Parts: sequence; structure tokens; C-alpha cells
Amino acid sequence: MTGVDGASGESGMRTHYCGVLRAADAGSRVSVCGWVARRREHGEHLAFLDVRDHTGIVQCVVERAHEIRPEYVVRVTGTVRIRPDGTANQQLATGEIEIGDCDVETLATCEPVPFSLDERAETEEPLRLRYRYVDMRTERMQANLRLRAVVNSAIRRSMERQGFVEIETPLLWTPTPEGAREFVVPSRLQHGRFYALPQSPQIAKQLTMIGGFDRYYQIARCLRDEDLRADRQFEFTQLDVEASFVGQDEILGFVTEAMVDAADAATGVRPGGFARMTWAEALDSYGTDKPDLRFGMELADLTAVLAGTGFNALHAPTVKAIVLAGGASLPRARLDGLVERAKALGAKGLVWMRAAGDPVTLDSPVTKFLSEAELTGIVRAARVAAGDLVLIVADEHRRACEVLGQLRLDLGRPPSVGGALRFCWLVDFPLFDGTDEEGNPQAAHHPFTMPYPEDLERLDTDPFSVRAQSYDLVLNGWELGSGSIRIHRPELQRRIFAALGISEADAESRFGFLLDAYRYGGPPHGGFAVGLDRFVAILAGEENIREVIAFPKTQSGSDPMTGGPLPLDPKRLAELGVRVVETAPAVPPPPPRSTGAG
Ligand code: AMO
Ligand code: AMP
Repeated sequence: MTGVDGASGESGMRTHYCGVLRAADAGSRVSVCGWVARRREHGEHLAFLDVRDHTGIVQCVVERAHEIRPEYVVRVTGTVRIRPDGTANQQLATGEIEIGDCDVETLATCEPVPFSLDERAETEEPLRLRYRYVDMRTERMQANLRLRAVVNSAIRRSMERQGFVEIETPLLWTPTPEGAREFVVPSRLQHGRFYALPQSPQIAKQLTMIGGFDRYYQIARCLRDEDLRADRQFEFTQLDVEASFVGQDEILGFVTEAMVDAADAATGVRPGGFARMTWAEALDSYGTDKPDLRFGMELADLTAVLAGTGFNALHAPTVKAIVLAGGASLPRARLDGLVERAKALGAKGLVWMRAAGDPVTLDSPVTKFLSEAELTGIVRAARVAAGDLVLIVADEHRRACEVLGQLRLDLGRPPSVGGALRFCWLVDFPLFDGTDEEGNPQAAHHPFTMPYPEDLERLDTDPFSVRAQSYDLVLNGWELGSGSIRIHRPELQRRIFAALGISEADAESRFGFLLDAYRYGGPPHGGFAVGLDRFVAILAGEENIREVIAFPKTQSGSDPMTGGPLPLDPKRLAELGVRVVETAPAVPPPPPRSTGAG
């Protein structure tokens, strides 16, 4: 045997991967290594072992297999032969052949595994995570983690081709002002002082720009102590990018290229048609800053049609509608459910109308409050056809849009599996979003985001109308990433801090080192970060990023496999200068681990 061949699997112990053997190999003496997927006895002296590795399964015909159990690790040496007539298995890539005359060597035994590795078996997630190393043998986890590696590798090649240099930035960092709660690490050498794990390499990458690396990237691990959800983990990975002497369009171009290259490597198709819209347009047409463009059902504007309405419920600054094609047949109970859903989302109510006939007329308990002109205006403005259901919300602009944006998703969103990749760039976000407890505007992105120069004159008089040079990338309704052009001039940075209510002393103590750095020649620059866990999950057709992470945490932030987080013994705590204040445990501790099968 000669060295290692990546494609065939040849190594010192085997000649082939299980899944690569074909009829053309008949007659060859081969060795395969893997796990016993199934054992079937045929009388005293004949048994079939299905041996599995990540490439697939091969059937081995053995004389005795009494002692061999599922998931034993075996090395089988034998001769490839064509299966007898009528016994080929069309479902299996290796189904035309089997390995005969086998010597079976048991390399490791296996206790009964805690769940079936059959793809169709629906195992509950805590059990899968507790025995993740077993779970990883499934086709699904093998495919997902390998897909992730393909994406990472394609992204690296793409960024390097575009002239970017990968720079590793520290994990032991200091607190930064990005908003999410940080994980902290006590310093052993300086009691009472703490490092913060980076929420992102944001400040470090800006410093590399000042350091003259005009195109930085990193496949960076980020850590945020925030509530976990389907698209959020404590630890996640970003494609982190920063570039100098470029504008927004160039940054969008770099990231688009990397996404297209990665999607191509993953699916064999270069996705096209990156849509682009402003934040205001997205809110207006989709009721969200994460528009899912895989389906229509855009929000229609009825404000003008109903401007003078005598029906009080629809008398509001904004009136919006969505149309569900064919929805007129929904039963009354379902419509009542939609009204309740709209109220739960913050609407004062929801008007529904069923459309029928030619010309189309609208039927609803409230049509009697509307004029003929208003009703035909609704049909025209919302492009209603017979059989449709119209849903209308009247409210302040943002709320009316957001409630219908959510109903649009509830009613129209296609499943995540398969189908198109619909990317969308969102630009021109507001610089500020909401206020803090003291009534100061809060940064929508982070405080280093560059406003549009032409909007700056309104910074003090009408701060919420100031647009930022910041942008998001959305894929199939998921926020995939965000970025901005940064402020590189200290005077402007001071003005923004003042607008945010951050005093000079406060700014100095929180990020004085960054402000210092900009005194030493900070070039104009900007950047972006893509959430790779989310990207890979969408490519894999998964709803939850845990499915594309090797060892994720559960919803409560625990690791059922290691039992973490764990208490530290008093000696370690003393060494770190940390004293634990006893409080009631927020979550019940995980059940004790057993060494045997569950
Ligand atoms: P932001 O905070 O928007 O921007 O993060 C960028 C992207 O990272 C992903 N992401 C997450 N993925 C999984 N779990 C999480 N907890 C999590 N949090 C964020 C998302 C998100 O869009 N430094 C800026 C970028 C920049 O301005 O250059 C930043 O981190 O996909
Ligand atoms: P009301 O006048 O509150 O009895 O509401 C009459 C109908 O209008 C009910 O079906 C409500 O759900 C609906 N409605 C009330 N307020 C709104 C609103 N702001 N937008 C849409 N529908 C509303």
C-alpha cells in the first residue's frame, strides 16, 4: 500500500472507502474499515455485514458474525464480487457488488448505541447532543459538517483571490461597545480584572486598517452571551472583512463574490440576482429589514385610498394590505386566528376581506362602513383577484408594515429545504434606532458607523432621519451579515459620541485606545461580517444552526455531552481571585453522565 489517497481512502489499513466500490472492482482483493451498520444472519454459517464509513455502505458476506454487534469498528478484507442475479440493491451505490471471502477484524467494540443511526429515526436533540460523536456518523451530520468545510475553503480561496490577507485577532480581548453581552475571563495574574471574549473582531480589524493592511479578512470565532435561538449560538463563526480606500459598493462587491464562490462550491450553481433595496423600501414592501424574496405577497399601500375614510378603524397615518391568493376559502375560525395573531403582534386589529366575482367585489363584516370608491380603490391598489383574501392593518407606518410583514411570512413562507437562494442587499439603514433609558438615540449598528455626509446637518435637530452608510445582506429571509463604512475622522467621531450621549470621559475610558489610534493616520475604510453558521444552515436546508455546528450548546447554554458549564473547585477560584455568590440555579443541572448506553 502506498501512502494516502484522499479520494479512494487508501491508507495503511484499507485499500478503499466502503462507498466507492463498483462492479469494475470485481475480482480485486480489498480492505475496508468502518462501523457495522447492520448484521443479518442467514443460518449458522452465513451472515451479511453492512459496513459503513462516510462515503457509504458496502455489504460483506462473512461466515461467522455472532460476536459482531452494530457499530462495532471493523476492518474487513475480502474479494469484491458481483452479487448473485436478482439480489442487486438499486438503493445503494455499491448495490451491484459485495465483498466475499471475508476476514473480519474487530478494531473496537461498541455498547448498544443510545439511538438508531437510521436517517429516518427522529431522535430528540438532547440525546443527539449528549452522544454527538455517535450522531456525527449519520449521513445528515456528515453532509452538513463537510459542507461547512467546503464553504470555508471556498471563501478562503475567494478572499485571497480578491487580495485579502487573513489576520488572526485575539480571543482574550477587552470589552467593546457592540451591544451584546460579553463572556468574561478572570485574570489570574491581576485579580479583579477581566478579559472579554470578542463579540466580533470589530475594533481589532479597524486597527489593522490603520496598520496598513488594506484588505483584511478572517474566518473568526465570535462569542456573545445572548439568548440562544434557532439562528443564534454563544459561539459562532463570521467571515469578517475590512478594506481601506474603498466605498460601500466595493465592499458589497467583495462579499457578493465570496458568497457566490462559496454557494457555487456547495451547490454547483453560481447564484445570481442579488437584489438591492434601501431599508425604507424593504420596510414598505416587505414589512421587515430581512425580506424573504423567495415569494411575492408584497405589502400594498392603501393609505391614499383610505385617506378620507369614515371607518374609524382604518383611519390612521398608514394603511397597508397583503393579499393571500386563494385565501378566500379560509374558514372563519382561521380568519379569527389571524386577527388574534395581528393583535399579538401589536396591531389594534385586522380587517379581512374575501374577494369574489368578475368584476371583483369584496365581502367582509366591515365592508358596510366603506364607500364603493374605497372598495374599488382597495381592489385596484392591492391588485385583488377573485378567490383572494385581503388583510388590512391601519397604524403608525412602522407598526402597520411590521405586523403585515410577519403575517406575510406566516402565510407565505416556503420551507427552508431545497429551492432557490435569494440574496438581498439592504442599504441606507438609519444611523440611530430607538433610545436608551436616558432618552439618547442609540446606534443602530455600532458607534463607528459613518453617516451620509449630506444628512449630517440634521444630526442635532432630527437625528432619526440621518441615514448611515451601513448595509445588511439577507438570504431567504435570514440576516446573513452586516457592515458599514467607518468613521475615520476623530472630530466626526466626537460628534457622534455626543449625539449618542457618550461623554468624552466615557468614550476615553471605553475605547480610548481606538480614538488614540485614529490620531495616527486612519485611512477611510469599511467592512462587513457574514454569519457562516447561518449561511451553511441555509445551504444545507436546515432550520437551526446547531445542525451545522459540530458541538453546539442547547437552548439553555449547556453541553449535554461534557455537562458544561461546570463549577470550579475552590482552589481554582482562589487562584483566579473569584468568589461565587450562591443564587438559585437558573436552569436545572443536566442529568449525570453515564458511561454505558442510555
Ligand atoms: P453583526 O453583529 O451584525 O455585525 O454580526 C454579523 C453576523 O454574524 C451573525 N451572528 C450570529 N450568528 C450566530 N449566532 C449569533 N449569536 C450571532 N450573532 C451574529 C449574523 C450577523 O448578521 N462587527 C460587525 C460587522 C461589521 O460591521 O463589520 C458585526 O459583528 O449572521
Ligand atoms: P372596532 O372598530 O375596534 O370594533 O374594529 C372593527 C374591525 O376593524 C375589527 O374587525 C377590528 O379587528 C378591525 N380593526 C380595528 N382597528 C384596526 C386597525 N388599526 N387596523 C386594521 N383593522 C382594525
